[in-house]
Amino acid sequence: MNLILALLPLIICDTPAKCEYEEILGKWTLSIGAMEADTLRDCQTLAPVTTASTIEIELAKPNLVLDKEGTTIGNWTRVSWEGVSIFMDKKHYFTFWKYEKKGEDFVTDCTRTMQGWAREDVVAPKELACWSAIKIGNNGKSEQPAPRPVERSIPQNKNYDYFYNSEGVRMVTDTMTLEAAVAIDESIARSTRFVRPHPPSPRPTNEARLAQFPKSLDWSNMTGRDYTTPVYNQFQCGSCYAFGAYSAVESRLLIESKGEIDVSLAMQDIVSCSTYSQKCDGGYAVEVGAWLKDHGTVEYKCFPYEALNDLPCGQKCTQPVRTVHVGSFGYVGGYYGACSEDLMVEELQKGPIPVNIVVVPSLKQLKTEIYYPTEPVEEWNTSVNHIVLLVGYGEEGGQKYWKIKNSWDTTWGDSGYGKIVRGNNTILIESMAEVLSPVVVVPKKALSFLKLLEFWLMAGLAGLVFVMLVVCMSLCCARQHSKGKKSQYQKIGSAGKDSGRARYAD
Ligand SMILES: *[C@@H]1O[C@H](CO)[C@@H](O)[C@H](O)[C@H]1NC(C)=O
Ligand SMILES: *[C@@H]1O[C@H](CO)[C@@H](O)[C@H](O)[C@H]1NC(C)=O
Ligand SMILES: *[C@@H]1O[C@H](CO)[C@@H](O)[C@H](O)[C@H]1NC(C)=O
Ligand SMILES: *[C@@H]1O[C@H](CO)[C@@H](O)[C@H](O)[C@H]1NC(C)=O
Repeated sequence: MNLILALLPLIICDTPAKCEYEEILGKWTLSIGAMEADTLRDCQTLAPVTTASTIEIELAKPNLVLDKEGTTIGNWTRVSWEGVSIFMDKKHYFTFWKYEKKGEDFVTDCTRTMQGWAREDVVAPKELACWSAIKIGNNGKSEQPAPRPVERSIPQNKNYDYFYNSEGVRMVTDTMTLEAAVAIDESIARSTRFVRPHPPSPRPTNEARLAQFPKSLDWSNMTGRDYTTPVYNQFQCGSCYAFGAYSAVESRLLIESKGEIDVSLAMQDIVSCSTYSQKCDGGYAVEVGAWLKDHGTVEYKCFPYEALNDLPCGQKCTQPVRTVHVGSFGYVGGYYGACSEDLMVEELQKGPIPVNIVVVPSLKQLKTEIYYPTEPVEEWNTSVNHIVLLVGYGEEGGQKYWKIKNSWDTTWGDSGYGKIVRGNNTILIESMAEVLSPVVVVPKKALSFLKLLEFWLMAGLAGLVFVMLVVCMSLCCARQHSKGKKSQYQKIGSAGKDSGRARYAD
């Protein structure tokens, strides 16, 4: 079982909705409900709210939000294929494209959105409004619904023992043989549950910009110092996005605190609590970023990771306060589709970033050498299915590489790390890098580890006083001893206390 788990660290999925750039561009009407204080409402599963206001906007190239007059009022990005983030009016509007389960299959409608979340674009916003949008056609009227079936990929081989769970995610049974598990594992990259489009190809490397930065960098060894946190194991839960994003935040905390704050955060908190991603069925680092900006998270020990989809959202700490937030999040380049090698290198100067990659079977064999897949290019130039942390880059024997930290335990790769060919979008690593930065520890509610620090400081002080007392007492004692009157000292002590109490009683 453990061996199978170790072999099957799945992998991002996402919602069934898949909408292309070209079909999203154009005019939309946003229907927005009232801002309310309950910020934990899950707009996606709530009944449609009453519209309090409507806005007509245009989502224009490359990432501009225009008003009715064509004036730029904000920016937007696709959230992979599955959703959209709009920043305007000092607010962040986030939602998924419309999808629906029809029998065993799903339909998606790229002229509609699910009901999503709108908030002040600040850390820990106090209010939330639910909203949804409908595309406006060329005739200026709302477009008719245009549902279309979601293409499901066909299993390559039906001779092994697996099943699809209610969400359509392929699961492995505990009883299966190792061979069967490997067979499934090898087919995962080619046949995940829904056919996913190829992410936008990266922009060509700007060599002049690239040349401005050091030839190499490694956050796991910056002049002898390691700014990464432990190599984790996500087990059989599609939570790579949580590990990629949290490892980035943990490293940024270390970097931004100059090595002072070395803490693991609670990935289970995202898996169990976030409504912006899909628990063990996947998600993206930007969705974790949005959740952390809005709600923050807790330390690892507060909600230890159990790789479980259905673990209820609740922490085991006595008084959990979600204090670790991020100030901003997004795609390298500013929006989905704007990534490039030089921009990734530029962002890496500030700290590690989560990157999306394609897992093909040969990645399992990666050790210390620079990895390039042994599979033909068509097998991996498909769509991303995994997220890891990018911790550095360099060049070895004339070959440029990226250095990644995976969440498949230290048994994978080079003690959990690996080097991937850099510069030609190998396993799509340059197609959609994400950033979560800076880390914001919301003031007034101190982090529990800061509280601990405070506690130890106080304890230290108290200890010091105690030691001084003891030293003093033993000196007294020694003096008494030297006079051969230990019992007398004790009497004096208790007598003093009694008389003291008597005085207070007066
Ligand atoms: C860290 O980097 C230094 C050079 O900067 C190197 O001498 C040392 O061996 C490295 N340490 C590890 C653990 O790789
Ligand atoms: C988008 O708009 C927000 C809010 O005005 C701003 O903070 C952010 O930098 C903008 N992003 C891009 C890529 O322009
Ligand atoms: C990978 O696929 C994309 C999109 O289909 C294509 O533009 C690109 O040239 C391909 N790259 C390689 C190396 O085959
Ligand atoms: C990418 O670079 C590697 C290493 O230089 C090379 O072996 C490989 O053929 C290149 N792949 C493509 C698709 O250009």
